[in-house]
Amino acid sequence: MTGEHDHRPQPAPEQPPAVTPAITHPAVVRGDCVMDAVSLGKDYRLARHQVLHAVRDVSLSLHRGAVVALVGESGSGKSTVARLLAGQERPSAGTVRLNGQPVALSGHRAFRRYKSEVQLVFQDPFASLNPAHTVRYHVERPLRLHRGPLSAAEVRQQAAALMEQVRLTPAEDFLAKYPHELSGGQRQRVSFARALAAQPSVLLADEPVSMLDVSIRLEMLALLDDLRKRFRLALLYITHDIASARYFADEVLVMYAGEIVERGPAEDVTQRPAHPYTQLLVSSAPDPDNLGTALRNGANRAGRPGLAGPPPDGACPFSPRCPYADDRCRREAPALQPISAARAAACWRLDVAAPDVLARPEGGGDGTT
Ligand SMILES: Nc1ncnc2c1ncn2[C@@H]1O[C@H](COP(=O)(O)OP(=O)(O)O)[C@@H](O)[C@H]1O
Ligand code: SF4
Ligand SMILES: [Mg+2]
Repeated sequence: MTGEHDHRPQPAPEQPPAVTPAITHPAVVRGDCVMDAVSLGKDYRLARHQVLHAVRDVSLSLHRGAVVALVGESGSGKSTVARLLAGQERPSAGTVRLNGQPVALSGHRAFRRYKSEVQLVFQDPFASLNPAHTVRYHVERPLRLHRGPLSAAEVRQQAAALMEQVRLTPAEDFLAKYPHELSGGQRQRVSFARALAAQPSVLLADEPVSMLDVSIRLEMLALLDDLRKRFRLALLYITHDIASARYFADEVLVMYAGEIVERGPAEDVTQRPAHPYTQLLVSSAPDPDNLGTALRNGANRAGRPGLAGPPPDGACPFSPRCPYADDRCRREAPALQPISAARAAACWRLDVAAPDVLARPEGGGDGTT
């Protein structure tokens, strides 16, 4: 790994302070709120007039220099949230705000302006780069598109600086390569460089390491964390792996069947989960203190929604799989309710499922779950 470099692209200028969400915590909020989403929903129309509620009532806020992890198993709606925040899809309900202003993406220019602030890195580094173009093309294009008038020499110098930022050196060698000449990890580094070229204030990283070789996942997360600090990015880290969320997130949001079922400071939620689904995710991670093992095995052992049969209409979505489910759970879905100033969970039976958390919601990380 290389160290600090003098000629790196400069971080985006400070943004004005903006809206602070209802549930926050001094440990969670590091910088100004850059982006927030209020009650986001996304419905997809399926065949025979069926509607899939892929995302329901999701609220979150992203702060400069802080990491929010969105955790849940496959199909829980994480990527849909990312696409809504990235402006790639329109929400069926709710609002996305950037620097406190509701986002209105009418037209190509507005979308380009938005993209210069909000960048998305995808899961699959093999699909996200165009095989017909060199690395130079992928990195220099956003520099030209988003960074105003730069001379050819400035573009080349900035591209080389970005390569160094993502530790692809010698930069000129890598800039000349085509995607098929790179490993998966190197391609994902190019994806990071391309995203940073726009000088975004928000980076949405959708399972950025889950398709990479186990041996390099930790190194890639460390790089992402380093980039987050250097550029003071507001980072949404999407993962199915709660152990990796604990590794570097400030706040964790746990998603199940399209809804946030638990949220709070990462350490508290991962060490002492309140919601039965979060408890299942944490207990499925073989050893929460051993990130290497957890990353290798993944936390997604709990199966997929629906394996235990669909919940009855209006019921808690987790009720078919929940060891604590009672009649009320099968009749009524719980809403997200505060447990403390920083924590919230959507469950009727926290008094049975997590009495210790109710008694002492924060700061009790003693390693037991
Ligand atoms: N364009 C689409 N049309 C119909 N259903 C979709 C579409 N995109 C996602 N879905 C469905 O929405 C749900 C959430 O998907 P997704 O956001 O990709 O979940 P995750 O990223 O957590 O795996 C899934 O049931 C998925 O099949
Ligand atoms: S509301 Fe009931 S079914 Fe749902 S998570 Fe809580 S105890 Fe389980
Ligand atoms: Mg996904």
